[in-house]
Amino acid sequence: MLKLNQVSAQYNMLNGYVKAVDKVDFEVRRNEIFGIAGESGCGKSTLLKVMYDLIQYPLEIASGSVEVHTSDRKGTPAIYRNGEIHKSWWKDISYVPQGAMHVMNPVTRVKNQFFDTISKFHGVKNKRTLEHEITAYLKELELPPEVLKAYPHQLSGGMRQRVLIALATFLHPSIVLADEPTTALDVVVQRGILTMLSQVQKKLMNSMVIVSHDMGVHYQITNRMGIMYAGQMIEIGPTDRIFNEPKHPYTQMLINALPRIGDNSQKEGIPGTPPSLKNPPAGCRFAARCPHAMEVCRIVEPERVNVGEGHYASCHLLN
Ligand SMILES: Nc1ncnc2c1ncn2[C@@H]1O[C@H](COP(=O)(O)OP(=O)(O)OP(=O)(O)O)[C@@H](O)[C@H]1O
Ligand SMILES: [Mg+2]
Repeated sequence: MLKLNQVSAQYNMLNGYVKAVDKVDFEVRRNEIFGIAGESGCGKSTLLKVMYDLIQYPLEIASGSVEVHTSDRKGTPAIYRNGEIHKSWWKDISYVPQGAMHVMNPVTRVKNQFFDTISKFHGVKNKRTLEHEITAYLKELELPPEVLKAYPHQLSGGMRQRVLIALATFLHPSIVLADEPTTALDVVVQRGILTMLSQVQKKLMNSMVIVSHDMGVHYQITNRMGIMYAGQMIEIGPTDRIFNEPKHPYTQMLINALPRIGDNSQKEGIPGTPPSLKNPPAGCRFAARCPHAMEVCRIVEPERVNVGEGHYASCHLLN
């Protein structure tokens, strides 16, 4: 459905580039929830913007390409590449940005946010019919129709996030990108949002990409996932394999740091900090924090190694 071919993207600053996404290469398949994890500042949101083709100054694509595979009204296969993906926004691919709770227009009622978005991209047929369709869709998602009359500030954070997910999925896009959809919500509301996302995915049988720094979120709803470190996707594979047999030392440390029921041992964080994305080091970007680092790690960038069952990791230890 969505394919990234060795994509690199950077922020063009006056005094150099912030290389936020480096040679990222993977695909999102039909009928799956794909997760993207990694610590703050590793490039998750930038990667999602690249996938949605929301490239605005100072962000630029340095190399590589993005492809959205879809079909037109007659069912003929169509491919949109970066630079033209905007033609398929909302209809084929939609995006719920990070901090989405603050992106709604504060002085516009929810109903009009739906009208504005849909008419901007697809023209409004009959407002009455559209309102009926929106109300019916909200009902399917177990949202009360009264939310349509509300202003964003009158809704709770969880409700606003649900409304945005409803808006993003109203036109049944084949790909939905959601950036930190549950961050800043309490665990009960978080659970509700995750259930809603997976229900929508099952109903539409489409592809979803969920960005979250919270590994628990990935464990609960993703089928496959990618781990990012300093702008690179260093491990990718089925979610159960990532949790049970992580191959990259960074992923292993992330998983070991997770609390487990019945385990009272002291959990340790990962010492050190990620390298600067302005001037990333040669070799493996994790080498300075890696307990297994060898000489080669500081010189040669590791290649991606296939460790079986659709599981890949970029680490010299695997060779
Ligand atoms: N508009 C911008 N201009 C310049 N640099 C930026 C901009 N947005 C992000 N960056 C930088 O790009 C890098 C990647 O940022 P990004 O927001 O993609 O990370 P993230 O993984 O989403 O982090 P978080 O978990 O905190 O949301 C960071 O070093 C960040 O400082
Ligand atoms: Mg982010």
